[in-house]
Amino acid sequence: MVKKNWGFATLAVHGSGGVCPHTGAVSMPIYQSSTFAFKSAEQGEKLFTGEEKGYIYSRISNPTIDALQKEMAFLEKGDGALAFASGMAASTATVLGFCESGDSVLCSRVVYGGTYAMFAHILPKLGIEPIFVDGTDLDHIENAIKPNTKLLFAETPANPTLDIVDIEACAALAKRHNIALAVDNTFATPYYQQPLTLGADLVMHSATKYIGGHGDTVAGLIISNKEIIERIHDGVMVDMGGVISPFNAWLLLRGLKTLPIRMDRHSSSAMQIAKFLSFHPKVEQVYYPGLPIHPQFELAKKQMKNFGGMISFDLKADQEQIRRFQDALELCTIAVSLGDCDTLVCHPASTTHSTYTAEERKDARINEKLVRISVGVEDPQDIIDDLQLGLKKM
Ligand SMILES: Cc1ncc(COP(=O)(O)O)c(C=O)c1O
Repeated sequence: MVKKNWGFATLAVHGSGGVCPHTGAVSMPIYQSSTFAFKSAEQGEKLFTGEEKGYIYSRISNPTIDALQKEMAFLEKGDGALAFASGMAASTATVLGFCESGDSVLCSRVVYGGTYAMFAHILPKLGIEPIFVDGTDLDHIENAIKPNTKLLFAETPANPTLDIVDIEACAALAKRHNIALAVDNTFATPYYQQPLTLGADLVMHSATKYIGGHGDTVAGLIISNKEIIERIHDGVMVDMGGVISPFNAWLLLRGLKTLPIRMDRHSSSAMQIAKFLSFHPKVEQVYYPGLPIHPQFELAKKQMKNFGGMISFDLKADQEQIRRFQDALELCTIAVSLGDCDTLVCHPASTTHSTYTAEERKDARINEKLVRISVGVEDPQDIIDDLQLGLKKM
């Protein structure tokens, strides 16, 4: 039994119902089965018509995946959730859940590079027009809405510049224009930000990141109200495929139990590291929503419980020096992805955000000398010492 008044850390451990409802196992078992036996041919027919509820096939539903979806719905305060094979599968299903050929969709300009590529290059092939907007400028967003716009997709904090989009204001704007608001909540996680409670219609995650938390799985999630979840499940997910595997769902269930503990560590270390970087003479600018110099610091304080583990900074350096900085690191790993226990460092312009042209990156204020750190859970002083080493050898 789950009590509505439980705190986040309790829900993170017990939200899926605590023990397995089928066996009593305290750790939800991995139902590694593609298909489920019908008691009779007649029961099979009834399951397909919806007259009876039950498991049919793991692309449609599976007990381990159900437990994860239930848990995420609790944590994000939605009616239901759907789990996908990747964050990109979740984002694609989100767009296809709201838009069809002839529609347009707004997307905040600073987003993960794969998301940008999906909007910029794949949607036009489906007859859906992507319109990129400055997510920090409400007038810019509102003026870009067209009669055929169905969805505003916003990422906040944004990858990699840590721009903050005002979720509550965007939700009000979306409502006024009768369009839906979807928020990529990957950087904040439901522990620090709950977009549905601020008026968003749907939340998505690259669960590869903080939800999994250990760099050992690729997965995606969406959370929303009953009507939208059913629509995307029946109308997109089941027949497009792209569902999560039971094993990966189990890894996420395990990751969720420690989410608040890990996030608090990521966040407190990131604050120390952001302060260290902001005083370093070789660093031009630090982007961290927890620093008062961040242009949306007040908004971040208002809509987030804490600021998370992602930091970006511009180095006073050329391309070769930026390579030398990364190559000199001994503790931090040069890698894309984020939200792992290990600290990961990357240069977005040449990696994650190389899907933007140089001109598009300029418009999005993703600088060529920007370096991104996903702060891990190691001792923060060791991370600082390693960055110090990189900066010295740069
Ligand atoms: C903010 C954000 N959203 C979505 C994605 C895509 O997720 P995935 O890599 O799990 O497909 C990423 C990946 O880095 C991301 O950083």
